[in-house]
Amino acid sequence: MGFADYRTALVTGASSGIGAATVRRLSDEGLEVYAIGRNSERLTRLSAQTGCRACVVDLNDTRALTELAKAAAFDVLVNNAGQSRRGSILNTAAEDVDTLVDVNLRAVVHLTRLIVPEMAKRDRGHVVNVSSIAGHYAFGENATTFNSSVAYHATKAGIHSLTKQLRVDLYGTRVRVTEVSPGRVATAIFGDPDEGGEGDTRFVGAFETLQPEDIADAIAFAVGTPIRMNVATLEVVPTLQVIGDLRFARRSEAAQLTMIDDGADNA
Ligand SMILES: NC(=O)c1ccc[n+]([C@@H]2O[C@H](COP(=O)([O-])OP(=O)(O)OC[C@H]3O[C@@H](n4cnc5c(N)ncnc54)[C@H](OP(=O)(O)O)[C@@H]3O)[C@@H](O)[C@H]2O)c1
Repeated sequence: MGFADYRTALVTGASSGIGAATVRRLSDEGLEVYAIGRNSERLTRLSAQTGCRACVVDLNDTRALTELAKAAAFDVLVNNAGQSRRGSILNTAAEDVDTLVDVNLRAVVHLTRLIVPEMAKRDRGHVVNVSSIAGHYAFGENATTFNSSVAYHATKAGIHSLTKQLRVDLYGTRVRVTEVSPGRVATAIFGDPDEGGEGDTRFVGAFETLQPEDIADAIAFAVGTPIRMNVATLEVVPTLQVIGDLRFARRSEAAQLTMIDDGADNA
């Protein structure tokens, strides 16, 4: 099994949701896990529970990432951290575009650039990139049931492309590369209810979503397979969530749709 070949892992976005569940899962498998996030209180708690190394790092800080990459010979890199925003191109804010591109894409490319060459030299390693169904499919923004913006879709499509190209760049090595593409998971990404966010009631509570542990299990499955086997892509969605929609606005509707929403009702 792959776990027997690996000793250390680095997991980003470890302070909550899918990342925290992944730290728990990989720690249970006996890996020494470096858990990355900005919230030191949550990381300290996670460290007390799992024995992971809490690393308080902002992914926007490329210099800090460079130092972090030297901390160990990482066998497993889970690029999981991400943020989401609501809205379409008609009402997206400049700072939301910057945040999404910086955290969801730019930092992932940097961390991968910093860690993967050493994996290739050792001929051992596994990169798991957490994308999203938003990276594979277009779906209409709907304030009541969706929570993604055009920039979010674009960054996650970037992760999909990065993952595929990485396999090409690593041709001939035993460094494996997996994309895990989740549908809706009950996490704080929809607005942390502990911090007054509405995500729990609006996007999670009413739906039979996945739990963070479901995605951690999917990641552990990919990492735990024999070294000869590379699980390239896992799309994991709630049973009651389907993707597939064809809309065709009637002429009469089109006139109304051109009256662009200014975003005020978008929350
Ligand atoms: N939940 C879903 O339905 C869903 C669906 C598809 C894909 N995903 C993807 O799954 C991944 C994990 O998200 P989640 O759902 O588990 O959400 P989450 O609970 O909000 O976790 C996001 C994590 O990212 C970290 N993070 C955000 N900005 C950061 C920064 N600048 N520097 C360092 N860490 C940062 C956060 O830590 P700090 O706040 O401590 O920095 C947090 O640990 C994301 O890539 C998301 O796009 C989620």
